[in-house]
Amino acid sequence: MDTAGNLLNWTPSSWRDRPAAQLPDYPDMSELQRVEVELGAKPPLVFAGEARRLRRQLADVAAGKAFLLQGGDCAESFKEFSADNVRDTFRVILQMAVILTFAAAKPVVKVGRIAGQFTKPRSQPTETMGGIELPSYRGDSVNDMAFEDAARLPDPQRLIRAYEQSAATINLLRAFASGGYADLGNVHRWTLEFVKDSPASDRYAQLANRISEALAFMRACGVTGDAARSLESVDFYTSHEALHLPFEEALTRRDSTGDAWLATSAHMLWIGERTRQPDGAHVEFMRGIMNPVGVKCGPTITPDELFALLDVLNPENEAGRIVLITRMGADNVVQRLQSLVRAVEEAGRAVVWSCDPMHGNTVKTDSGYKTRDFDRVLKELEGFMAAVSGEGGYPGGVHFEMTGQDVTECVGGAKALTEADLSSRYHTHCDPRLNADQALDMAFRIAEALSAARDGKSHAA
Ligand code: TRP
Ligand code: MN
Repeated sequence: MDTAGNLLNWTPSSWRDRPAAQLPDYPDMSELQRVEVELGAKPPLVFAGEARRLRRQLADVAAGKAFLLQGGDCAESFKEFSADNVRDTFRVILQMAVILTFAAAKPVVKVGRIAGQFTKPRSQPTETMGGIELPSYRGDSVNDMAFEDAARLPDPQRLIRAYEQSAATINLLRAFASGGYADLGNVHRWTLEFVKDSPASDRYAQLANRISEALAFMRACGVTGDAARSLESVDFYTSHEALHLPFEEALTRRDSTGDAWLATSAHMLWIGERTRQPDGAHVEFMRGIMNPVGVKCGPTITPDELFALLDVLNPENEAGRIVLITRMGADNVVQRLQSLVRAVEEAGRAVVWSCDPMHGNTVKTDSGYKTRDFDRVLKELEGFMAAVSGEGGYPGGVHFEMTGQDVTECVGGAKALTEADLSSRYHTHCDPRLNADQALDMAFRIAEALSAARDGKSHAA
């Protein structure tokens, strides 16, 4: 049975009786209500059967039989929306997925931070610049980034635009996923191009060539796109932070079987660090939906706080329901994770351990850019893998802020971007993202770590 079946005292609006952090202050609440009614009549973006399939695949991850790759923009924007942008992000995620599938020798569950990632939590409700105080920018679904009175006023109509952009995005993703674009041979050909031009060409060529050989072998055996549909298409899922509860509620519908509720805005939703109070509104909302749920875990979370959340969100301890997305920082990760993983594993809680190596490693440069260093991101990933497996867990997932565009927001990677390069193409609406090359660099480096772990295991066995 789904977690959400006939939950006691839960309705899509029961969160309204709880304290809700991070919701915008709308100047006109009746306008928000009109928008909620309008959204309530819109078609769902995802279907219950898809969310169930994702839960089954995540249960495989929890059991160590698959791997989770989640990635996309920190925040999507209205301005940067285009078919090319969506395609390029999708392409890089698939390229990473091929590399990881081969290195892990396991299926990779592919989840985009896309088609709905429009609302951002903020540490301060207002922002002051040059003596002027305005409401903080909370994402394109709420207000506009420009530092002007009118721009920063929360406008409910933006929720409709976010819905429409999400619908157009997921439509495109579905076409890419099944219309031939995702063909395994295609995707690998793009990766060979990348390897040819990379300064780390020598380092990556060996792995890339082994993938080429595996594909040639399959073709020789008659396993080709035509013969095997699974090589031509992928399952691709969407996800975002479930922050804007009026929006999420309006898109929450009963499953056709009648006894479960689905948040139809995305396949998977997550709760952030700032809204995961066990008796708060966001946790109350998440408790009742049947979607897989991510929980961001920062350096201050204690095992007891985590158990309180798991009790509410996954009382039946069903595998595939919960993804713990840890974001500890490169220096803290081993020490912070050890006790957490040990407690969760000893208690027999079924979770997916996934690493967000981005949010604990954000720094500001002297010239004022928020950035992240490729090597620090990698260091957190390696610490994560060591700590989780060291305590008997399975390090089964990774979560990146990345884009298919050639931006200059993070430093490092094989092309060795420096702080001086950042100003040339710094486009993010929120946090710095890995660019396409850096994301592929990262996949190759994770692949090396996974292969090393596999070799280690087979020697020990
Ligand atoms: N369908 C399989 C999968 O999703 C194989 C596959 C086809 C694939 N195209 C791909 C894997 C692109 C990764 C990337 O795993
Ligand atoms: Mn972010």
